Amino acid sequence: MTTADTLRFSPLVADDDETVTEWLALLAESAEPSLSLESPPPCPVDMVGSLRHAPPDTSLEDWVVRRDGRVLASLRLALPAGAPMVRVDQLLVHPSVRRQGIGRTLYSYALERAAEHGREGITATVVEQLPDGPERDPGPSAFAAAVGAKRSESGAGVHQWLDLELNNPLADGVPALAEGYELVTWGTTTPEEYAIAVSKLELSLGGASLDIPDEQVETSYARRFEVMRVGRGRRAYHTGVVHTASGLLVGYTSISKTTGNPQHALQGMTVVHTTHRGHGLGIVIKLANLAQTLEHVPTLRMLETANAEGNAAMIAVNAAMGFRPDARWTTWTS
Ligand code: ACO
Repeated sequence: MTTADTLRFSPLVADDDETVTEWLALLAESAEPSLSLESPPPCPVDMVGSLRHAPPDTSLEDWVVRRDGRVLASLRLALPAGAPMVRVDQLLVHPSVRRQGIGRTLYSYALERAAEHGREGITATVVEQLPDGPERDPGPSAFAAAVGAKRSESGAGVHQWLDLELNNPLADGVPALAEGYELVTWGTTTPEEYAIAVSKLELSLGGASLDIPDEQVETSYARRFEVMRVGRGRRAYHTGVVHTASGLLVGYTSISKTTGNPQHALQGMTVVHTTHRGHGLGIVIKLANLAQTLEHVPTLRMLETANAEGNAAMIAVNAAMGFRPDARWTTWTS
């Protein structure tokens, strides 16, 4: 009998409490060996919420894998609308049963599902050590190579951490904002007046015309993103910048955190419209937003972020804030 013959795949459904509890135990026990300040445990509220709320324009397929009735692996496939590939968001085998061919079976299953969905193949992000970075487990990339995936030379990301106890970017306060601009702040829910501007800025990474009629933005991306965030028990802190003369929101930045892990938060999107770059707005909104977040979450110590490796401007802004590169996120495809 092959390993595959001993395994049973079943869909993971949010309302199946028993299976969800087993899945959460799998996630927690898999994280345990590498727990540290830089790798906090998964937040159960966030993980259960993720079963109910996919990111905008994406559907998720979650599978648990049992042997003799026990959940010992899981697979999450993401299907972004219109994309040619299926993205593997989670491919996890319990540490006690690794190197038995279970990972390989999950990978083949992911390929089969991609074919059934009419997609060209699968893509996955693998965490790797940076040349001068902290040590990383070489297992995941060895596994990806063993199952025949190809490592892409482009499109890698750099994951970074800011330890606020070691580097306080607010020691000298928030720098002055360039003339002609005003800061605005909001929390988890985007104010109605900014919802469309936030959607346009986010989807175009600041490149879209800001005065296209609102009716042409069919649905607010910002609102759908919020539904996911709230459904996952996350809260968020935003600082935006308004161009005083036109009254338009021309940039914003976002920090979010899960219900659990009070010391940890995620520095998410920062975007400044192309026509308003070069005035130092990016660093001011990021620092002002960190100050706002610390007022609400005084326990915060570790802020994580990730940028495309080619985004030298943002990585330089982050380095100036005290972020330190932590790992390289590479893309593998089959
Ligand atoms: N070091 C070196 N090679 C490895 C390792 C490792 N730690 N793990 C797997 N491999 C390679 C080996 O060539 C192995 O064949 P072999 O055992 O005959 O030598 C081959 O991959 C297949 O291994 P499996 O037994 O099928 O894999 P396993 O069930 O152990 O699961 C996995 C591997 C999924 C990486 C597991 O270690 C895990 O859950 N890690 C944490 C989650 C993770 O990093 N997932 C990302 C996977 S990358 C991707 O999805 C493309």
